[in-house]
Amino acid sequence: MVETLPSSLYGGDDQFERERIGVFARSWLYVAHATQLSSPGSYVAAECNGYPILLARGRDGELRGFHNVCPHRAGPLAYDGTGTATVFTCRYHGWVFEGDGTLRGARDLGEPGAPEECRLRDLRIGEWRGLVFANLDGDAPELAEGLGGFADEASGFDLEAMVPAGEWQHDIACNWKTYAENYLEGYHIPLVHRELARTIDVSRYEVVAREDWCLHRAPAHDGTVIDGKWLWRWPNLALNLYRDSMNLEQFIPLGPARTRVAYRYFSLDGALDEEVSRISKVLLMEDAAICEAVQRNLNAGVYVRGVLSAKHEQGVASFQRMIRDSTGADGE
Ligand code: FES
Ligand SMILES: [Fe+2]
Repeated sequence: MVETLPSSLYGGDDQFERERIGVFARSWLYVAHATQLSSPGSYVAAECNGYPILLARGRDGELRGFHNVCPHRAGPLAYDGTGTATVFTCRYHGWVFEGDGTLRGARDLGEPGAPEECRLRDLRIGEWRGLVFANLDGDAPELAEGLGGFADEASGFDLEAMVPAGEWQHDIACNWKTYAENYLEGYHIPLVHRELARTIDVSRYEVVAREDWCLHRAPAHDGTVIDGKWLWRWPNLALNLYRDSMNLEQFIPLGPARTRVAYRYFSLDGALDEEVSRISKVLLMEDAAICEAVQRNLNAGVYVRGVLSAKHEQGVASFQRMIRDSTGADGE
């Protein structure tokens, strides 16, 4: 049987930092939707897993990514959120940067000649079907290549036609891996999600687990095929796809013991389907309660390692393998 990761990896600053560098600084991270960056001058500033990111569409129409960190003394070029700007004025001492990241002027520096080599640090970005990602790793494969089979599974859905319909977030008192692993198996559904278990045929719940992506599918009890797919992509993005809507879910580590689950709803007509929203909130609250209970037990010091079901937990096994490979950690 495959053994789980040890409980010691589900807390503590050392492992958290190993994952910030080994996982999140080397992966494509979702940052924004293309509709937020459609007009020249529009920008999105966001912190992604502890990394401050600025996406900006220049007056020339080109979309660029920068670290949202001023080269002078690390001030922010923009506060988190969306806006419009053709130049970026650092919020700390007022150095001004062009839309392409070059320095226009260093305010009242008191010495001749602005340090022209000071420019915003570029960040790799990629766009896939309306979703904009960034990657801190200059050597990472291109986004399209990195998404691989995940992108293929989404091919039957009209993602480009979907527009933002709402968002919601909830913070959970658990490590991000505790929540991610819970997302990666349907084994817990009969016990944790009673309403869902009445709707879907749990005995035919299917998980297709690949190296860095995973697919869940389940037929309804009445024999109809539920017209949706639940996809997960390493490290922390889930995309729940339906015929006329989708729900993008990110598991964002806020610290070793705190995870934000952020939902962004999209639909063809821009309207939020109240039933989709209600169900996702019910499921999340059920998952949050069990994940917090599991986390308390992981912290208690009585459980060190467990084993994984070959039938139901292949997704968890792949995820844990990726954690081991990315961080080199498997200590007790
Ligand atoms: S930190 Fe940006 S101008 Fe000083
Ligand atoms: Fe669940």
